[in-house]
Amino acid sequence: MKVLVIGSGGREHALAWKLVQSPRVQRVLVAPGNSGTASGHPAIENVTVAASGVGGTSTPADYVACAVLHGIGLTVVGPEAPLADGVVDAFEAAGLRIFGPTQAAAQLESSKAFSKAFMDRHGIPTASHATFTGVAEAHAHLDVVGAPIVVKADGLAAGKGVVVAMTLTEAHAAVDAMLGSDGVHSAVNDGDVARVVIESFFPREEATFIVMSDGQHVCALATSQDHKRLLDGDLGPNTGGMGAYSPAPVVTPEVHARALREVILPTIRGMQAEGRVFRGFLYAGLMIQPDGGIKVLEFNTRLGDPETQPILMRLKSDLFEALLAATDGRLDQVELQWDRRTALGVVMAAHGYPLEVRKGDVIHALPAETDDAVVFHAGAAQIAGEVVTSGGRVLCVTALADSPRLAQARAYEVLAGISFDGMQFRKDIGYRAVKPR
Ligand code: GLY
Repeated sequence: MKVLVIGSGGREHALAWKLVQSPRVQRVLVAPGNSGTASGHPAIENVTVAASGVGGTSTPADYVACAVLHGIGLTVVGPEAPLADGVVDAFEAAGLRIFGPTQAAAQLESSKAFSKAFMDRHGIPTASHATFTGVAEAHAHLDVVGAPIVVKADGLAAGKGVVVAMTLTEAHAAVDAMLGSDGVHSAVNDGDVARVVIESFFPREEATFIVMSDGQHVCALATSQDHKRLLDGDLGPNTGGMGAYSPAPVVTPEVHARALREVILPTIRGMQAEGRVFRGFLYAGLMIQPDGGIKVLEFNTRLGDPETQPILMRLKSDLFEALLAATDGRLDQVELQWDRRTALGVVMAAHGYPLEVRKGDVIHALPAETDDAVVFHAGAAQIAGEVVTSGGRVLCVTALADSPRLAQARAYEVLAGISFDGMQFRKDIGYRAVKPR
């Protein structure tokens, strides 16, 4: 069967890399893909999709046309934007097989206000919160509640819509960036109304808990943890994620059971009860408190990036078969097998990321894949025979080893051979798992 992966990041490179390992997958097409999916494997290729949407974006109808043209049997959606645009609804209307949530179900991510209200309705543990459309009211609220505090953009913000502000200055700046007249209006959702959700902060460790759901049954993926801040020690600006590792030791068997019982299952049942059946990858960003209590920090309706890269390096089962089962409503028959080792990925980002990203820097000495290390491409493109930077997060150097410490050492060993002008990376990815607990 031919499989289509929608997206162009490291997550999509990892999806294609894993899918092509299935004996039942003939080819993986990636729309639009990156340099890694252009040349990494003879059975993976990039395809061009029409871009008839506003601002030169591809519409759900453009993706349907691409799938029909190439005789695609199964489509997997990487990023959130096509889901929020209704790509799954369009494929289903055309009778095409696709794995991902409908537009209505994707609101769990595309509207933080919907997501928080949903959690309240279904007794899913989350921090107390208030939603604002007015910038002055949001600032006034911050002055009353103080910091640390969490500020979230209501709309999609490419993984950067959640700011954990340790000071009031940071919190006010986040509100300005999301709502203010000189801001980027990243909080725009529901037509033209911009909203922010401001919620209480709890001292905690965060972990990523992702499941596949066929609307009724769920199958948990391996746990992981990412590093959202740009700089070592979790300092500096928020990013889409500077590195990740799997498994996350903070998710003990007890926490795992609680996450399923208190968060995942009530969410799947609640979405079903509200007529928004959730089929797809459900990503719960969890806050794990010192006593093992959990609260949901955010829901995403897709795989995480860069979490997917280490997670899929540990997946021993056939991902294609699992996706097929999920689209058939047979996930209760699937049990995924995981490599017991740790996988750890370090993101190499471009000059200026996460603000003004410079493109076009030539990437030198990309190593060939080995059994224990893969360099997943993201914001990288092949131009005139060279691989050059083309986005903020450029590569994710991912390694597999017997312990977090060894996986960390191996990932940084591989990374040391790669270079491009202006490269930025954290030197402490995995530090929580590496330090003695
Ligand atoms: N790594 C965070 C995200 O995918 O949203």
